[in-house]
Amino acid sequence: MSSLYSLLAASVLVGTALALLLRRRRHLPYPPGPKGWPIIGNMLDVPTSYPELAYREMSRTYGPVVYMRVLGQSMVILNSAKAACDLLEARSATYSDRMSSVMASMMGLDPWNTVLMRYGPTWRKHRKVIHQYFNVDAIRAYQPLQLRKARELLRRVHEDPSDFLRISHFAVGSNIMELCYGRAVDDIDDPYLAIARKSAAAAEGLVSGAFIVEFLPFLRHIPTWFPGAGFKRQAARGKEDFDALLYVPFNDVKATRDKGHAAPSILNEMLDKCSDVKGASGIDEDVARALSAVMYGAGADTTYATTQTFFLAMVLYPDVQRKAQAQLDLVVGSGRLPEYSDRESLPYINAIVRECTRWMPVLPLGVPHACIADDEYNGYFIPKGSVVILNQWAILHNPDDYPEPEVFDPDRFIKNGELNPDKRDADTAAFGFGRRMCAGRHFSDATLFIMMASILHVFDIRPIHDEHGTPILPEARATSGFFSYPFPFRCDIKPRSASSEELISDLH
Ligand code: HEM
Repeated sequence: MSSLYSLLAASVLVGTALALLLRRRRHLPYPPGPKGWPIIGNMLDVPTSYPELAYREMSRTYGPVVYMRVLGQSMVILNSAKAACDLLEARSATYSDRMSSVMASMMGLDPWNTVLMRYGPTWRKHRKVIHQYFNVDAIRAYQPLQLRKARELLRRVHEDPSDFLRISHFAVGSNIMELCYGRAVDDIDDPYLAIARKSAAAAEGLVSGAFIVEFLPFLRHIPTWFPGAGFKRQAARGKEDFDALLYVPFNDVKATRDKGHAAPSILNEMLDKCSDVKGASGIDEDVARALSAVMYGAGADTTYATTQTFFLAMVLYPDVQRKAQAQLDLVVGSGRLPEYSDRESLPYINAIVRECTRWMPVLPLGVPHACIADDEYNGYFIPKGSVVILNQWAILHNPDDYPEPEVFDPDRFIKNGELNPDKRDADTAAFGFGRRMCAGRHFSDATLFIMMASILHVFDIRPIHDEHGTPILPEARATSGFFSYPFPFRCDIKPRSASSEELISDLH
């Protein structure tokens, strides 16, 4: 054990000496941040619960760009939209890398997971293919599927309103699963949906700074029974879950293809392209397997978390709900359900989608970027290899951009009855910045729009009441973690009127 500590001390000292040398060469200070301790640096300052709040507090003391150093690893936390745009967008060639994560490597994610992949040719190839399937124009082809899923959700919620959360998870998950793998499922407990859920939970093991092994990579070689080796067991479970995501649905599609009757899907199309003349499409079987898993894994639970936020906001803000329903009544009318063609005429529903992604961002600290070269910003030195954490929550809760940020108010996105084009909308921050910005944002936006419009058109969402008739209001609080979403809550969902009841009955 003592030799382990000597090795640790030696490596940290060498790292610190090198960093000091570099800094002197640049004659610039690091950005401001809490003063650290010898050797461990700011290890004790790294917040473990609701880090987005703690980093916002730090930014009040040190400014929007906060610097910390943990066991020789530089961390830069960006707490303002301006700093995020200046660095992640304007200097995206420098800030589009990801740090190599020991936990990710132990979970076997290095070679295939686009989200965590280092910046370079493989990542570029992945993004190019994803873009083909998820750009603003391409996603229009998926509207019939999304509409069908939204209406199926209405039917299921009508049958069992108390199960609205599980039903929403099913609607969002089965939507992207059918799109990626062509697997149409009817069972709300379909095992494929559990695969996406488990891999999303395993991603919690990738939270920046949560595991000491990220700072001391040699610890990955300690035996599993060793005290403090919990990360090894967590990584082993994560590997199982991510392997299931990568191989199980893919192998099923391959098997049905071999029998000659695979359903249409993005994977099926990609596999067709594998046999193109000498790789003209850039897709081979490894890319096809990886990308379908990435799109499914990255798209299911993120979008579901936003639907949870939507239900919560509707319970807590009845005036918002009534206003949305008034617009739906005017534009769509009581004789039919909303369509995508109504979207332009429903600015308030579009504003609700944005406000949901702003109010409770699913990834409060985004996915950390990394910087591939020494840089200088506002007179401060940012060393090569720094982890750059984007405090999306702080950006979306900045009272200068969003007055009274804790209040759910879609009107902040409306000007003269239209979506305000000048307003910094939630798209820019809840989905990240620069070249690594979310590749599925247009698709999730379209999914959320049609689900929210359809639900509000036919249902009233109200709080449940106790035995004295007093409403039980859920708390407007999200969980803490890499993924953040409302704590489970109950609500009362009923058809708005006889005509709504009829519209839903027609779906049976
Ligand atoms: C409400 C839903 C969603 C939210 C809030 C969300 C958010 C994010 C964020 C914050 C990032 C990191 C951006 C950065 O590094 O700056 C990201 C990356 C990514 N997202 Fe999403 N996402 C959502 C839905 C989706 C969907 C539906 C898909 C796929 C169909 C998807 C695919 C991806 C991919 C592939 C990346 C990795 C991009 C890269 O590293 O180059 N996401 N997402």
